[in-house]
Amino acid sequence: MPKVTIDGFSIDVPEGTTILQASRILATEGKMPDAHVPPAMCYYTKLKTSGGYCRTCIVKVSKGSEKDPRPMPKPVPSCRQTVMDGMEVQNLTAPDLLEARAGVVEFLLINHPLDCPICDQAGECHLQDLSYENGNAGTRYEFARRTFDMIDIGDKIKLHMNRCILCYRCVKTAEQITDGRVHGVISRGDHAEISTYIEQAIDNDFSGNVIDVCPVGALTDRTFRFKSRVWFTKPMDAHRKCDKCCGKTAVWLSGNDVLRVTARKDKFGEVEDWICNECRYDKKQIGDWTIEGPRKIERHSVISQNHYESLRQLKVDISNQKKLLEVAHVADIKQN
Ligand code: SF4
Ligand code: FES
Repeated sequence: MPKVTIDGFSIDVPEGTTILQASRILATEGKMPDAHVPPAMCYYTKLKTSGGYCRTCIVKVSKGSEKDPRPMPKPVPSCRQTVMDGMEVQNLTAPDLLEARAGVVEFLLINHPLDCPICDQAGECHLQDLSYENGNAGTRYEFARRTFDMIDIGDKIKLHMNRCILCYRCVKTAEQITDGRVHGVISRGDHAEISTYIEQAIDNDFSGNVIDVCPVGALTDRTFRFKSRVWFTKPMDAHRKCDKCCGKTAVWLSGNDVLRVTARKDKFGEVEDWICNECRYDKKQIGDWTIEGPRKIERHSVISQNHYESLRQLKVDISNQKKLLEVAHVADIKQN
């Protein structure tokens, strides 16, 4: 089994494991703090061929392998790059890599509106977290952002294309877990957009899962829109007997009102089991569910309170590293 070292934490993993998967195994087994796992905006474990679009998961490979120890010349997407025996990878320990990732974030935000105060995804938005953790405070972009009209995809899903980062997750979800994909990305470059032969699009039992996989607020649940900020709701693990799906969900309560029903997600923000539309949209009475207890939100986000407190320290550490690097660089210049 190849051995890989990520930010100084080592693990043996099966052949064919990617760097991202290896880092998640390290974190899941408690051998590495979660913060060292590269962020991923397009990769999704359950979706085949996902990943490779957004470049947020880039890492620096400082040693290629035991056989060929040369570093890789450019940052590589950790969701696509498989590990090799003896490989050494840097994520948080490489300030230049963090600089490069900040550039990726800047690109992702070029056309993204500053909608957070009115966006239903705020508080559990991966882009919000990514920007806070890996982005810069300001923007250098001065041009008009591209804008689209909002579209209803069926009667339950709203597509707000302005917020879409073209991660393809919803396309792959529709392709792989529903009966026939009828939506995808049309056009290219800054004209690229998610589009659908809308009305039939979402007429199948598992279509609501595209909402859960969307990392931003581009696809939202029309039955929940503007009902509450997510951090005011109480997520509970709940289940019911369902003959279409596993029936295990998270119900988001306000008092005894079920404001929304979603799939349960793991600490990497990925759905544990797909749920059907009946569970998601039609079971909105507390009596429809057996409540198991409060759901522990492990994913770092605003909904897991105080998370940003620990991140603050992390950011201080990183900026100290950057300063040290700059000082060393200046000393180098003076010497030469
Ligand atoms: S709508 Fe959401 S899931 Fe689909 S491509 Fe855009 S950001 Fe990704
Ligand atoms: S998560 Fe790897 S490229 Fe998007």
